[in-house]
Amino acid sequence: MLVLGVETTCDETAAAVVERLPDGSARILSNIVRSQTEEHAPYGGVVPEIAARAHVELLDGLIARAMTESGVGFQQLSGVAAAAGPGLIGGVIVGLTTAKAIALVHGTPLIAVNHLEAHALTPRLTSRLEFPYCLFLASGGHTQIVAVLGVGDYVRLGTTVDDAMGEAFDKVAKMLGLPYPGGPQVERAAASGDATRFNFPRPMLGRPDANFSLSGLKTAVRNEAARIDPLEPRDISDLCAGFQAAVLEATADRLGVGLRLFQERFGMPRALVAAGGVAANQAIRASLEGIAARARTTLIIPPPALCTDNGAMIAWAGAERLATGLTDSLETPPRARWLL
Ligand code: KG4
Ligand code: ZN
Repeated sequence: MLVLGVETTCDETAAAVVERLPDGSARILSNIVRSQTEEHAPYGGVVPEIAARAHVELLDGLIARAMTESGVGFQQLSGVAAAAGPGLIGGVIVGLTTAKAIALVHGTPLIAVNHLEAHALTPRLTSRLEFPYCLFLASGGHTQIVAVLGVGDYVRLGTTVDDAMGEAFDKVAKMLGLPYPGGPQVERAAASGDATRFNFPRPMLGRPDANFSLSGLKTAVRNEAARIDPLEPRDISDLCAGFQAAVLEATADRLGVGLRLFQERFGMPRALVAAGGVAANQAIRASLEGIAARARTTLIIPPPALCTDNGAMIAWAGAERLATGLTDSLETPPRARWLL
């Protein structure tokens, strides 16, 4: 089964061809990602209109390259998958419409993939992981704990009630004058900082649900930073270290509850899986190891290139859906919001 996948929901334009073998294993035949970070950096965040225009300019060329590199012809494709949401609607329209055109011209089945579902199924692309497992997804747009029970069968156990985790990192970076995207910058600054100098709140700590809240913590960092004038590199490091320590503690607490809820409802998860750009953070990865060990499960973090947005995860989710007989009509709408 050969599937072309297209990703355009945020600021990565991506196309990939993935093969799913009859035994459920996978081969990535091509996986091309063009990040638009440079286009958005001057604005300190993703500008939807700029993103949509960049997708229009880049996508055709990326698909052509992905097809050539894979050695697969359009006629050989078993399916064309596009992320139909959730995301910035201009970009979603570009990707989904392009996939529809390919499906129409070549008579290939279309698979409209939920971007979050693609993150959820990615570990099965890289390892032989069986259902059910627990997903912790933390990116610039999403922060969720999801029970992944089967293809198309997901239960959301927790979510952020305000900012996404990556978004909080980006906003903290911005208020401290660090460049975009802020996550890696905050992590770097935190490494040499004193996490005990500021006593930031640990939002939602001890609550019985598995939800996150990050905007209060972000505001606390802003308030502390506003009291320091001038803001020296030492202060920035200490603020970042304090912020990251609070995020780590909140994550451990929230995921601890999430894993407990998982076990109560669905039994032992086969693994705790982390995905999204925030999973690139070394301190968070180390803390996830401890969280998984305490819940007596194993931690799986797909390689960084598959943790962040890419085409292979869309192609793979398309292949998994196609294998269970799920396809979509050419009338399928693009969706800015789409709960799992
Ligand atoms: O999954 P991703 O590449 O794109 C989407 O948001 O869909 O995630 C990007 C987010 C950004 O907010 C970025 O700041 C954050 O992930 N991020 C990090 C780190 N690397 C990327 N956050 C904390 N620490 C990092 N090392
Ligand atoms: Zn994503």
